[in-house]
Amino acid sequence: MTEAHPPLRVAAMGDLHVREDNVESYRELFGEISREADVLVLTGDLTDLGKPREAELLAQDIKACSIPVVGVLGNHDYECGAPEEVSRILRDAGMRLLDGQSCEIGGVGFVGVKGFAGGFGRRMLGSFGEPAIKQFVSEAMNETLRLENAMRQVRTKRSVVILHYAPIVETIESEPLEIYPFLGSSRLAETIDRFKVTAIVHGHAHRGRYEGRTPGGQPVYNVARHIEKPTGKPYAILEI
Ligand SMILES: [Fe+2]
Ligand SMILES: [Fe+2]
Repeated sequence: MTEAHPPLRVAAMGDLHVREDNVESYRELFGEISREADVLVLTGDLTDLGKPREAELLAQDIKACSIPVVGVLGNHDYECGAPEEVSRILRDAGMRLLDGQSCEIGGVGFVGVKGFAGGFGRRMLGSFGEPAIKQFVSEAMNETLRLENAMRQVRTKRSVVILHYAPIVETIESEPLEIYPFLGSSRLAETIDRFKVTAIVHGHAHRGRYEGRTPGGQPVYNVARHIEKPTGKPYAILEI
C-alpha cells in the first residue's frame, strides 16, 4: 500500500549550468542534500551548453550522491545537439532522467518532461500563419501530450511533476515581461490540472519567484538555483 509510506523529503533544484571549466563542483552540495533529503530532483539546464564533457563532470558529482536522483533536461542541455549523449552519461551515473515517463520512489510518483515555451493564458502563441510558427506551437503541444501520457501511468496517491519550463506566470514574475512567452506555457498547467498532484517543480526562470499555483490550485515551485527559497539554500525541500 503506497499510503503506508512516510512523507518523502524531496530536495529540488534546477539550472546547475555545469561548465567545462568546472568553477563550481556540486559534490559538496549533493553530499549535504543526501543528508537532508530522501530524493534529489533536478529540473533541467544541468549543463551550460549541452556538452558531453559538462555532463561527465556532473555525472561524477551525481555518483557521489547517496540518495536517488531524478529529473529532466533543460533547453541548455540541447545547445550542442547532443541531448542523447548527455542523457546517456547522466543515466550511466544513476540519474533517472525522465523525458515523458514516470517512476516511483518511496511511494511517490515522479513524472518528468522538459516542456516548452509559448506564453500564457489568452495571449499564448496560437497555431496560425507561417509553418515555422505552427511548428513552434506543435512542439509545445507535443510536450503536453507526452506529459499527459506520463501522468496517466502514475498509480501512487502522491506525485510530483518535474518540468524545466514554467507552467504558470506567477513563478516567473520578476523576469522581464518581454521574455515571459519564452519561459513557459500554460498548456502545461492545463494538462496538469486534469490530474491531482502533490507538487509541480520547474526551473528555467532564474529571476522568477519561488511559489505559485496552477489555475486549479495545485502548488508550483520555481526551484532554479538562483531563486530565493525558504531553506535559504540553492535547493528547496518539499515534504511530499
Ligand atoms: Fe537555466
Ligand atoms: Fe532553461
